[in-house]
Amino acid sequence: MKLAMITGASSGLGLAMTEELLAQGWYCITIQRSTRGLEGLLKEYGVIQMPLPDSRRQGRGALEVIHQDLRDCAALPEFLEGLYARVLDILGTSGKPEALWLILNAATLDPVAPLAQADSKALENHLSLNLLSPMIFISAFERIFASVAGRAGFAGAGVKESSPGGSGAPGGLRPDSTRPQTGGALRAESSRLGPDRASGPGGSGAPADSASQSERAPGVPGSVRDAGSGAPGASQEAGAGAPGASREAGAGAPGARAETLRVDKRIIAVSSGAALHAYPGWAAYCASKAGLDQVMDAAAQEAGVSGSGTFFRAIAPGVVDTPMQEVIRSRGPEQFPMVQRFRDLYSTGGLSSPAQAAAKVLSLAAQGKEGYLRLDVRTA
Ligand SMILES: NC(=O)c1ccc[n+]([C@@H]2O[C@H](COP(=O)([O-])OP(=O)(O)OC[C@H]3O[C@@H](n4cnc5c(N)ncnc54)[C@H](OP(=O)(O)O)[C@@H]3O)[C@@H](O)[C@H]2O)c1
Repeated sequence: MKLAMITGASSGLGLAMTEELLAQGWYCITIQRSTRGLEGLLKEYGVIQMPLPDSRRQGRGALEVIHQDLRDCAALPEFLEGLYARVLDILGTSGKPEALWLILNAATLDPVAPLAQADSKALENHLSLNLLSPMIFISAFERIFASVAGRAGFAGAGVKESSPGGSGAPGGLRPDSTRPQTGGALRAESSRLGPDRASGPGGSGAPADSASQSERAPGVPGSVRDAGSGAPGASQEAGAGAPGASREAGAGAPGARAETLRVDKRIIAVSSGAALHAYPGWAAYCASKAGLDQVMDAAAQEAGVSGSGTFFRAIAPGVVDTPMQEVIRSRGPEQFPMVQRFRDLYSTGGLSSPAQAAAKVLSLAAQGKEGYLRLDVRTA
């Protein structure tokens, strides 16, 4: 199974990347505040409240949608503990975990204004969403997925044995055998991420289908939906043509932690030309995108030391015809002096479509080189 978490998938590039990955058979979990834009995909790919083995999914993509305001960074550690526990649950149940990608895409431009006029709360919100929340996502990713010791579904197959210290690593998930109740923590997190926060056809608390009890994971409440049965394109092979390939994480790396997830692990940050070039009116955006590139570079170097095996990619998507570009064009020159350049680009057809940009970003993200790469779809 190839699983991707995508932040900010309700519109624009995030939505297009999710469409592309679903079409290639990936299991996608998206995180944003609303489901606008995702309704069509939810109808087609359904919401799976429970992981289904790959043999049951028949290679179909599957979609879970989680509502979360990513500006609320204080809530993120607990949120991510639940989310990543669920991811391990899904991968462990799949029978064949192959890839785990985290696509950090959610962002805002606001406040678009000279810094002298920017509201401090708006600046704080901006940095929380664009910079701090990705840092917290990466931190928990590298901590939690570094150790899968003793987790169901990973014994011998999905893990890489290396030096001691993995299961006892700070913040690492404890083996199931040390939990007070079997799967207790997972059960609690699954239900919190399920009926309360996941949306599907029918909205919150979507009706369960007629799956039998035997199809449910033991001891875990929630509905089961076979997203593949009878759906269009159900014969598609899992991951056929999908970007990326399985690899062994952490193999041979000095100081590697025990039992690192042996799948193609990647963190992909959606960057911007604004990370390299300063624009008047975009001080916050330039700062957050430049900062995110640096975070990715530093985290990749840390991964080289820890042997986590995670690849890091910062990818600038070019100028893409999304709601964010509408925001740019709507601002006056007193807020954004370069606005005419973006209006001209739009009127002369200089923007790429979200689908074109998504395909390029995902293709670049899949490149094989280890460590950190900063790429731009216009020059790569
Ligand atoms: N469009 C371009 O030309 C361009 C160029 C360079 C880089 N980029 C980058 O590409 C990425 C995608 O941009 P886009 O153009 O597709 O923008 P977009 O259409 O405005 O989409 C932004 C996404 O972020 C989510 N989001 C916003 N605030 C959020 C919050 N508080 N919590 C959780 N999610 C939130 C939105 O979902 P909700 O509103 O439902 O929460 C939406 O799904 C961004 O990182 C952007 O910086 C875009």
